[in-house]
This record gives sequence, structure tokens and C-alpha cells, in this order.
Amino acid sequence: MGKVGFTVAAAAAVVTCAVAVTVVSKRVKSRRKWRKVVGVLREFEEICGTPLSRLKQIVDAMAVEMHAGLASEGGSKLKMLLTFVDKLPTGSERGVYYALDLGGTNFRVLRVQLGGRRSSIVRQDVERKPIPEHLMTSSSEELFDFIAKSLKEFVEKETDEDSSVSSVKKRELGFTFSFPVKQTSVSSGILMKWTKGFSIRDMVGKDVCDCLQQALSRQGLDMHVVSLVNDTVGTLALGHYNDEDTVAAVIIGTGTNACYYERADAIIKSQGFPSSTGFMVVNMEWGNFWSSHLPRTIYDIELDADSPNPNDQGFEKMISGMYLGEIARRVILRMSQESDIFGPISSSLVKPFILRTPLMSTMHEDDTPDLREVARILEEVLEIQDVPHKVRKLVVNICDVVTRRAARLAAAGIIGILKKIGRDGSGGIAGGRSKDTSSSKMRRAVVAVEGGLYSNYRMFREYLNEAVTEILGEELSSFVELMVTEDGSGIGAALLAASYSSEMEDT
Ligand code: BGC
Repeated sequence: MGKVGFTVAAAAAVVTCAVAVTVVSKRVKSRRKWRKVVGVLREFEEICGTPLSRLKQIVDAMAVEMHAGLASEGGSKLKMLLTFVDKLPTGSERGVYYALDLGGTNFRVLRVQLGGRRSSIVRQDVERKPIPEHLMTSSSEELFDFIAKSLKEFVEKETDEDSSVSSVKKRELGFTFSFPVKQTSVSSGILMKWTKGFSIRDMVGKDVCDCLQQALSRQGLDMHVVSLVNDTVGTLALGHYNDEDTVAAVIIGTGTNACYYERADAIIKSQGFPSSTGFMVVNMEWGNFWSSHLPRTIYDIELDADSPNPNDQGFEKMISGMYLGEIARRVILRMSQESDIFGPISSSLVKPFILRTPLMSTMHEDDTPDLREVARILEEVLEIQDVPHKVRKLVVNICDVVTRRAARLAAAGIIGILKKIGRDGSGGIAGGRSKDTSSSKMRRAVVAVEGGLYSNYRMFREYLNEAVTEILGEELSSFVELMVTEDGSGIGAALLAASYSSEMEDT
């Protein structure tokens, strides 16, 4: 070989080597990046872990905190608010009642005609309206004027529609207001604080019914607010109207909370026990539950710190629809900061709350072979383009970890309530009733459940139901039924308006 030929061959070899080195080093780099993001996922997964042992600790903590909250005001982060609801609908309720339901993403106006038998809702008309976003942070007058105006329009439409409805002499109204309220009677109560992104300063400390009643008179509406209830209480009322074995109600939607009915002797509040029937529904405000056993990640800590209500509603921030998508977004953002597997960080990816939970559930439940929906949402919502298949799978994993933890924690909360009232087969907690752990003493216990997260998100529902069985075991869990109660919060308020209406009391 001549000198020139040798030089060319050597140069070619050098180039080939260089290319090979570049390819190898690219591969090494990309493997390293991949390992990094998988590391982020693994760490997240590990801290979010909810093995049975941890769930049982949370069950116990919930039952203990319920006791503490009932024993003294401020005794626990669980407010355990007395609702003054000491009778639940029995089926004897008859007539036409109205309800307003405010508290989540939508606002609802309802009219319910009751037939005088259990489970006999002769007719129900529901109108849903999204709450204009600016009203969530406006003034109490603006918010209540919007509510009263919507009710007026609803009532005005009925005049020619149906003579049985328009002939109602006295229009009585139940008001579902799904925020922490310190009730002073069944039809009055003071707003303690806002949750779920609402923040109307001039409203805190005011009587909610007064605000509504004043707005109704500003609209010239002659209607009387008979019952002021939390959405959990409305759901319990409808649950009990349909099935007498209903002992508690849980909302898992934009926010989360639970209520149950409690024996008089378990309530030792300083103000005494203002019930003549021996029991009262207690609004737990479980969204504010806290325990050191809760699996908290850096994403939860940062989400809380950036929220308008830091150190508040810790349980809610791990469980409810308002927050799950946001937790997932934060994990994706961390991965993007650690590596470029999602490409350059887009301006959308850094926007809080842009990944709403329904979008997250669509990605989680995407069953197309190439995870097309995941790619579409990443592109359209987070502006992340051309995501390879294995990265799409990673996103599905993130959604799975977030949702599984949320659903299992909610399940532990529910069993905690059953434990507190001695309906979990364990005989209650220390100081409770007998310690018989057999199923021989178990009775059917129904828990009414409402909220989009539970009813629309199949994976969430499956994880929750599975965890109930895991905690209680096959045999005992067969006594516990979770019953989806659609529109319960609003219909239940109308039912309670009927139970507490002056006409019913006169009969
Ligand atoms: C509120 C509760 C309500 C729950 C579900 C929470 O943010 O504090 O009062 O029941 O959301 O709507």
C-alpha cells in the first residue's frame, strides 16, 4: 500500500472510531438520563408506598383523631363539626322542595318532588352551571347574587311548565354549602375558612344562611332556607333515604370529606349535646386530617407551600381531584429538570394546575397500544412534543402512583370511621365496645359515596375498593358496601329541607 493509501485508510479508521465513540457515548449519556428519571420515579413510588401495615396505622390514627376531635374543640386537626342534623329522612317526606348546591367545580339548582315513601323521588329537576372563576375570589355579595339569580331564573321557568310544581304555596330551600362551617342550628352557621381554591375574605366569620337569605330578598325571591348542610351530610341523607343501613358518607371529588352519625354519649363537646334523638350527624372535615404515617413526598410539601392554604387540608391535598393532576405535573417537571427526555421545558409545564385530574385519568386509563391519548395530552396541554413510547409509559406510571396512593388513603379513612363506630369487626378502639373480632357480630354497613373522582375514574375506584378488602379481609369486607349516590349532596339537602320544614314538623 502506498503512503497516500495508508493515510486515507488510517483517517477512515479514525473517523469510524470517532463515530463509534460518539454513538457509544450518546447511548451511555441517554442511558444515564433514563436511569436518572427512572430513579425519580422509583423514589416517588417508594415514598408513596401504602403497604397494608401503613394503611392499618392510618385507620387507627383516623379513629383516634375522631375521638380527640369530639372530646374537645381544637383537640385534633379533625374539626368533627356538629351539624345539628339529628334526624335523617325516613320516607314520610312529601311535597316539592328546592336545593342549592355550592362547593365544587359546578353549582347546581334542584327541585325535588317527594312521594311520601322511602326512595320515592317522584320527580327531580337539576340545572348545573360552572362557577365563573372570578367569583371564587370576589366578594360574598357578588357570589351570593349569582347564586340567587340562578335560582330565580330556575323558578321563573317553572311557572307554565307544571301546575303541580307552580302551585307550591311556600317554597322551602335546602342549601348545600361544602366548606367548613360551624353550625349554630340546622339552618345557620358561620364559615370557618375556605378550601378548594375559593378565597372570599369578607365571607369568613359570616353566617352563610344570612348571606343567602339577603341575596334572595335582593332578587325579590320569597323563599325560606330551612337547612344548611355540608355536601357529605346531603349525601348521607339521600343514602339513608334509599337504604337505612347507611352509616356514613364520603365525598371524593374536587375536595374530600366525610360525615357519619354519632351516638350522643360519644359527643362530649363543651356546648353540650343539642339533640333530642340521641344521635347527631358529625361533619368530620377529614380533608384536614393529619398523621405522621401519611406518606408525604417532596412534591406534596412543595404543593402545600405554594397553595393559598399552607399547612391546611393535608389529607385532601393527597387525595382529591383538585390536586392529583398537579402532583403528577410536579413529578414530570422534576424529571424534565433532571434530564431532557421530555425535550426543553415548555412554558406550560411550569404552570401550576394546568394538568387537571380528568386529563390525568385519561392518560392513566389510555388503553391504545401506542398510548396515543398520553401523547396527545402531553402535546396539547403540556406542550411536550414527540414523546417516545417508553416515556409515555413512564407518564402512565406516574399517574398510577399518584392515584393508587390517593385511593388507598381514602379507603383507610373510611375503615377508620367504621372502626370508630364499631362497624369494622374489630370492636372499636380502646375504650370502645367489646373486642370481638369475629364476623358474627358484623352487620351490613353502607357508606354513601359521591364525587367525580370515585364515580368517573375507574382505576381510582378499583384501587379504593381493593384496599377496603385488603384492610378488612374478604369476610368482613363483604358486610361493607360503598354505594355511589349521584347528586346526593343536592337532593339530600332538599330531603333535609323536607325533614326540617315547618309543614313536616306540624304534622
Ligand atoms: C370542604 C368540605 C367538603 C369537601 C368536599 C372540602 O374542601 O372543606 O366541607 O365537604 O371539600 O366537597
